[in-house]
Amino acid sequence: MKGLLRPARGPLRGKLSVPGDKSIAHRALMFGALASSGKQTITNVPFGDDVEATLDVLSLLGADVRFDDKNGVCSIQGPLRRPELSLPCRDSGTTMRLMAGVLAAAGVEGELTADAGLAKRPMERIAAPLRLLGAHVETTEGHAPVTVRPGALHGIEWRSDVASAQVKSCILLAALRAGGRTTVHEPTRSRDHTERLLAAMGVALDVQPGSVSLEGPQQLTGIDVIVPGDLSSAAFLIAAALLVPGSEIEIPLVGLNPTRTGFLEALDAMGARLELAIEGSSGGEPHGSIVARGGQELRALEARGELIVRAIDELPALFALAAFAKGRSVFRDAGELRKKESDRISAMARGLRALGVACEELEDGLAIEGDPDRVVPGGTSFDGAGDHRIVMALACVALRASGDVEVEGVEAIGKSYPSFLEDLARLQKDERN
Ligand code: S3P
Repeated sequence: MKGLLRPARGPLRGKLSVPGDKSIAHRALMFGALASSGKQTITNVPFGDDVEATLDVLSLLGADVRFDDKNGVCSIQGPLRRPELSLPCRDSGTTMRLMAGVLAAAGVEGELTADAGLAKRPMERIAAPLRLLGAHVETTEGHAPVTVRPGALHGIEWRSDVASAQVKSCILLAALRAGGRTTVHEPTRSRDHTERLLAAMGVALDVQPGSVSLEGPQQLTGIDVIVPGDLSSAAFLIAAALLVPGSEIEIPLVGLNPTRTGFLEALDAMGARLELAIEGSSGGEPHGSIVARGGQELRALEARGELIVRAIDELPALFALAAFAKGRSVFRDAGELRKKESDRISAMARGLRALGVACEELEDGLAIEGDPDRVVPGGTSFDGAGDHRIVMALACVALRASGDVEVEGVEAIGKSYPSFLEDLARLQKDERN
């Protein structure tokens, strides 16, 4: 589906909440369905395609899911049982990779299937450790469909060669049912939502700088979880505000887990000053508010290493900002970006070039020629590569166009932030304008 992106009509102003954090919501739902006591109630579940995939899969597995429409609270309880049908994970990598661990943890057989995009993404990274734990796992030449059958599980020591929270979480979930100690080592620490929520639900974990261990078997207790706003969605509103002079927006109740805030540190290094305040926490997750103002001069950024891991989903937003920074920005160590909903390195390189931004694709990253005075030519068009974060990042670039910009595949934003374009428009219409 084609969509038209309009240049900014004026500054973005006002206060706006973003949808709940996708990573935390997937976990709150799945772990709630695994709990053997207590009831998990979850406030602020986001309704994008990915979280709906998790909800559907859990329902097919027999979870009791209830929504209270009045206060937006969802409650979920197990037990899970063998489904009659296969389990469609749609295009959601987190659903598929974590659900493989859920099946192992519940001792339930199931076949996880994928849409065409997800079917291209690697699944041996979870299948191999699950097999070592003792589960029977089949992939289709390393990809979906993935079938998990229960086995006698025992603790393992696993050294992951990628920093992936999906891999780590899948192993830790299966380890809940395994006899003995399981340890996952990662090259760089990935987001730790699983560790935080498992601990809040009563699981004893040993978290060390390069590893996390748990002694199985252990039980989960359902709790009340408030899902904070998704920093990965907020990143695009922040980028938009920074790119439009005169803007001032406030985003309340955003998740500020330190394993996710690489984007905010990168902005600081680029010279963008934000106001940040941590205001509380729920389920072990800190949250707070962010104020972003437009018209600040941005410097080019050199980013690599652990910062990249902590900003992995926000790199497209940083690429968009780099196009308007002074100098050449270089992002390295980001090869994992090629394995997301699209190959985000080449999708962003193609999209930026289509909008007149010179950039060089590197094997593990991207170099972008920035220009603070850049005006994107109106009448240009780009392909969103079927990827929500590519569409949103380039929509931010299009705010600085001389006329409308066309995007192919605008509907991809439904994956995480269906109302993104409406929210951008609303912020430009705030009564203070
Ligand atoms: C996620 C982990 C990251 C991230 C994805 C969500 C999660 O993927 O890119 O959007 O919720 O665990 P990897 O674990 O593959 O790095």
